[in-house]
Amino acid sequence: MNATDSGKNATFTLTDNRSGDAYELPMLSGSDGPDVIDVRKLYAETDCFTYDPGYTSTGSCESKITFIDGEKGVLLYRGYPIDQLADHSDFPEVCYLLLYGELPSPEEKAKFENGITYHTMLHEQLIYFFRGFRRDAHPMAVMCGVVGALSAFYHDSTDITDPKHRMIASYRLIAKMPTIAAMAYKFSIGAPFMYPRNDLNYAENFLYMMYANPCEEYEVNPVLSKAMDRILILHADHEQNASTSTVRLAGSSGANPFACISAGIASLWGPAHGGANEAVLNMLEEIGHPKNIAKFVEKAKDKDDPFRLMGFGHRVYKNFDPRAKVMRETCHEVLNELGIKDEPLLDIAVALERLALEDDYFVEKKLYPNVDFYSGIIFKAMGIPTSLFTVLFAVARTVGWVAQWNEMIEDPSQKIGRPRQLYTGETTRDFIGVGER
Ligand code: SDX
Repeated sequence: MNATDSGKNATFTLTDNRSGDAYELPMLSGSDGPDVIDVRKLYAETDCFTYDPGYTSTGSCESKITFIDGEKGVLLYRGYPIDQLADHSDFPEVCYLLLYGELPSPEEKAKFENGITYHTMLHEQLIYFFRGFRRDAHPMAVMCGVVGALSAFYHDSTDITDPKHRMIASYRLIAKMPTIAAMAYKFSIGAPFMYPRNDLNYAENFLYMMYANPCEEYEVNPVLSKAMDRILILHADHEQNASTSTVRLAGSSGANPFACISAGIASLWGPAHGGANEAVLNMLEEIGHPKNIAKFVEKAKDKDDPFRLMGFGHRVYKNFDPRAKVMRETCHEVLNELGIKDEPLLDIAVALERLALEDDYFVEKKLYPNVDFYSGIIFKAMGIPTSLFTVLFAVARTVGWVAQWNEMIEDPSQKIGRPRQLYTGETTRDFIGVGER
């Protein structure tokens, strides 16, 4: 279905409007979620802009991909609840669902997985690109650089007006992100790159490229690859978050898909967004022991202290993030599989979660653990270095970014994104020569 005229209108008057006439703006309804006030004609009719820094009350587009109900803690990918997909589906199938809108038949799934498998290798020249970085470069800097550079190698899929080009570029990005991520890790430790294997599934292949070496056989732990697959599902898409909005805005100018995804990676890197999983682990290590938690919770509540509890709060969820619940279960599964009985960071996280959820400040502000709260503990237990946590988030979110990017380009009402502003700077003044200043 498409947006429909709700039959309702928003009527208002402007106090400085001498005629006293009421303005009327149409309201549109979707299939679920709040109606929207269509303000596209507002400036033409009133000579006024809307003003909404951070876009807390602004819908930027119409989309059919992901639905979030923040009050109820609901997250749907193409209508399917995230917990059902995490329990019964797998990441390649969820990629197909996000890209095409329906769950695949067995034949469609096999064809899609084959298409992804045969795009997992990188152009051999790109190996030299890695060598230009310092060994201690943050892997997110490497991801931004290498993904942006893909447009220099894959000219045959940068005509964004051609649906075939768009889909080849989408497959290439989904397929190559694990390879690039694993290469960034191997490069950082001075170990040889491992080529992807066509006999492994997506999550298995990633763990293989991360931990195998050319000198011996490597068997991927099926419990860990299943956990990784589930984590990828949970991070795949999330409506119009900061990095997805970045990809849409970059794509609205007609930029090639590789450049747009590189912009999304850059936005995701911030600690308020995808960088939070790395920040959570650093915070738990800084807390160091459950006896120190109260002090940190007080810091988080102190208006004069910039410290925030990383992994807590969300712009949309004012209830539990449904992904955090699945991540917490996965955390216990992975620690049990690895025989890790007393993980101090988990003890701190569980105690911190309990204390915060009982604290009036967090209850009143509806601050709950989000998707990033437990992921760092799982990744650390799997031997993934902290600096690679957000890289894994980017690997998973690439399918969401490309699905939203395709939807934006296919939207007939799409035009270049160009917000306006409330100007409070100097009004017109004449230039003064340096001798008179
Ligand atoms: C992700 O958008 C998405 O969908 C993102 C994401 C996705 O999948 O793409 O879900 C992934 O980015 C999850 C969020 C990861 N970030 C963190 O965990 C960082 C810590 N959280 C905060 O920085 C914050 O909660 C945000 C950035 C997530 C949301 O910030 P908002 O919506 O701008 O809310 P806000 O800053 O206006 O906070 C509202 C109030 C403020 O207090 P008052 O000014 O009203 O007195 O709550 C307070 C804030 O100070 N607050 C916190 C807090 N988060 C909000 N206080 C202490 N600790 C926190 N974590």
